[in-house]
Amino acid sequence: MAPVLILLGPPGAGKGTQARMLEEDFGLIQLSTGDLLRAAVAAGTPAGLAAKAVMAAGGLVSDDIVLAILKDRMAQADVAKGIILDGFPRTAGQAAALDTLLAQSGQKITAAISLEVDDDAMIERVAGRYTCTCGEGYHDTFKRPTHAGTCDKCGGTTFKRRPDDNAETVRDRLAAYHAQTAPLIAYYDDKGVLERINAMGPIAEIRESLAQIVAGITA
Ligand code: AP5
Repeated sequence: MAPVLILLGPPGAGKGTQARMLEEDFGLIQLSTGDLLRAAVAAGTPAGLAAKAVMAAGGLVSDDIVLAILKDRMAQADVAKGIILDGFPRTAGQAAALDTLLAQSGQKITAAISLEVDDDAMIERVAGRYTCTCGEGYHDTFKRPTHAGTCDKCGGTTFKRRPDDNAETVRDRLAAYHAQTAPLIAYYDDKGVLERINAMGPIAEIRESLAQIVAGITA
């Protein structure tokens, strides 16, 4: 059965950074509901128009919209390689819907990995983040391109910052995480699929710790 991994953690915990590395290390597919929603906003779809203001304010988009977008993505052929869910599920309703969706195709969750961090450090991480148009992520302090202004991955020179990456909105996103998403840690612990990882160290160390967990689970 193809692995189904969930990365849990507040904004800035490193879900996107580590999901992209797990793609490289294990040939899995990253499914980020944040990326899917941002694409819908950019495309001006009805779902994107409904999500735009909620995302800008740091709240959670409705379960109906998120589930519709995720189901569309999970219907594509490449997910058969196995998936890393980044930023989903985020509510009890989404977690229950995921269980149902997986059961319909004879799948189940392989592991839910909680990236454990200090909230105080997350504001600096998120406010310093920027991304190449190819999707490669960087940080003003923690992950600069080898050659300033040029993407290590694609050689591009155009970078962007997310409109919700400011200190005030990050505080609201952290509050939403603790109110609605952190309870899922106990939900997956009860199911016996929870793994916890200290995600306050350097990116490369966390990558190594995650790789050990995933290699053990998927062997
Ligand atoms: P989403 O895009 O999922 O954002 P998020 O959860 O707030 O998480 P981030 O992308 O900010 O952080 P990350 O953990 O991926 O960290 P990263 O690796 O980039 O969601 C955005 C919005 O969409 C939500 O607020 C909501 O409105 C909506 N949404 C999305 N999914 C939804 C859902 N399921 N339901 C409802 N609404 C939904 O790292 C951050 C920075 O830190 C980077 O610059 C990185 O280089 C750096 N960094 C990473 N790890 C380290 C490290 N170990 N040390 C130092 N720096 C590090």
